[in-house]
Amino acid sequence: MCGIVGIISKHNFSIKNSLLKSLKKLEYRGYDSVGFATKDGTIKKDIGFIDPFIEKTKDTETNLAISHTRWSTHGGITITNAHPHANKEKTIIALHNGIIENYLEIKQDLESAGYLFTTQTDTEIIPHFFDYELNKKKQTMQKAIQEFFKQVHGTFAILLILKNQNILYALKRDSPLVLGIAQDKFIFASDIYAFSDVTNKAIFFEDNEYAIATQEKFTFYDKEGNEIKKNVQEFSWSKEEESKQHYPHHMIKEIKEQPETSNRLIQSFATIQKNRIDKLVQLIRESKSIVFLGCGTSYHASLIGAILLSHQGINCRSNIASEAESFVSYDKETLCIAISQSGETMDVISELKRAKAVGATIASIVNVPYSTIQRFSETSIEILAGQEVCVAATKTFTNQVIVMLELARRFGYKINMQTISEKIKQTITDNEEKIKQLAEELCRKKDIFVLGKGMSYPMAREIALKLKEIDYIHAEGMMAGELKHGTIALIEEGTPVISLVPNDNKDMLSATQEVKARGAKTIIISNLKDKGDIIVPQSDTAEFAIYAGIIGHLLSYYIGVLLNVSIDKPRNLAKSCTVK
Ligand code: F6R
Repeated sequence: MCGIVGIISKHNFSIKNSLLKSLKKLEYRGYDSVGFATKDGTIKKDIGFIDPFIEKTKDTETNLAISHTRWSTHGGITITNAHPHANKEKTIIALHNGIIENYLEIKQDLESAGYLFTTQTDTEIIPHFFDYELNKKKQTMQKAIQEFFKQVHGTFAILLILKNQNILYALKRDSPLVLGIAQDKFIFASDIYAFSDVTNKAIFFEDNEYAIATQEKFTFYDKEGNEIKKNVQEFSWSKEEESKQHYPHHMIKEIKEQPETSNRLIQSFATIQKNRIDKLVQLIRESKSIVFLGCGTSYHASLIGAILLSHQGINCRSNIASEAESFVSYDKETLCIAISQSGETMDVISELKRAKAVGATIASIVNVPYSTIQRFSETSIEILAGQEVCVAATKTFTNQVIVMLELARRFGYKINMQTISEKIKQTITDNEEKIKQLAEELCRKKDIFVLGKGMSYPMAREIALKLKEIDYIHAEGMMAGELKHGTIALIEEGTPVISLVPNDNKDMLSATQEVKARGAKTIIISNLKDKGDIIVPQSDTAEFAIYAGIIGHLLSYYIGVLLNVSIDKPRNLAKSCTVK
């Protein structure tokens, strides 16, 4: 997590209108604190969101500055722990995205050499390390960087400047880093989105590379200091409407965009994405086993994919990426399909690297083009949901599930994809008012249980996840059959239990009766008229997952409104999880 932006320019630029404006575009990567440093050694930082920071920052101009928006890993959310960090004299200033795993050892060594640490961050070792190399060991900066790559374990995208020098240093291992090449400036950032309104030319860093940029030129090196030639990529990035329009929150805007975003994706299967889908289908056919990898909401979508493809006789499974190491072994005949909105989730990337190392084939389903996971893949389907600003995934989840349905359709699963967008619209218009009332009933509850089975089990997890992350309500998404093996002990008079019951599923109906008998307040979501408290359009069980998901997303949204919580930026979260 964390977003970083550094600019070195031939001409002076405004900190507020240039540097912090770009940084603002990376706020989805973390919003615990924000800070910047300029070439003359000025460092400003604060806790909280970027907008209030911009408001109170007195604008200055410079031709070299670096900035950071933080998602805390080491050390609490304080101004002291906010980046950038500097050596005692404030002549070496650095900021960092990633985790330095052996920072305690390095810190001890530096402390023994007389360095004083003032923060609880792992990042603070960076300026002191370079101070030691440059000022005590009298190394050149190049040698110091190479030493850094040798000694430091862990993940990092680092920007570093030396006071009053017109040079920007950028180092990368595992954490994302890209250079944007504009007419009069070079912009280093966590992703291309930071500078997509300034240039469409970029160079992506690979692991264990560093770059040195002056006002005139940049040079890339491998970790041993050998100069390397890099390809400049031209990217196209459609300028998205990022405003909330007339909506109070991005979340509700994004939920309501779904008739269009789903339709855009569905139509692309026969047009602009036909080749990509064909390629993925071919890879699935040629592989002995398919492993979906994802985290959070994307994992839920992948579970639906694994169930659907298994029903079509394909040897397929889905794993939470951060735990896959304990369960999955890959070989040359494995196809790993990563599913990720951001395309940057470190837990997924690490697992893909493990799979690739033994010859597995990598494919992906992502929302963000040019993301690390997409660039890592042999073929990559884009879900074309457009930018999702709310931290919680809604429209991207729906489109991920739609890709799963299309893949299953290619293997014989019967579904009419052309009616989905219309049914999404109907789901929202038919139920929004009812959901607002339900939100009134549920918003003061401490615990909510959500039950599903088979294809609706991933949805139970998904709805519970949204209730947790948006509303801070403890919610459990459960396999209905598992309830009686323990969790049912928690059901008391009035405990809310949401049951996902597609097509009168008998097991789901029994589980619902079992909790009702123990006093639960049950809420049935069904796709059959008069068979539930909330009715979504008629559909088969897999398609039901989409509509039930939308109900869950709307419910968590309207509870959030009643609780007056930070809906688009929930506490402790970030949209892109680029650390393990
Ligand atoms: C929940 C949510 C997260 C993400 C997860 C994976 O609403 O958004 O659970 O789904 O962090 O992120 P991506 O899809 O970017 O890999």
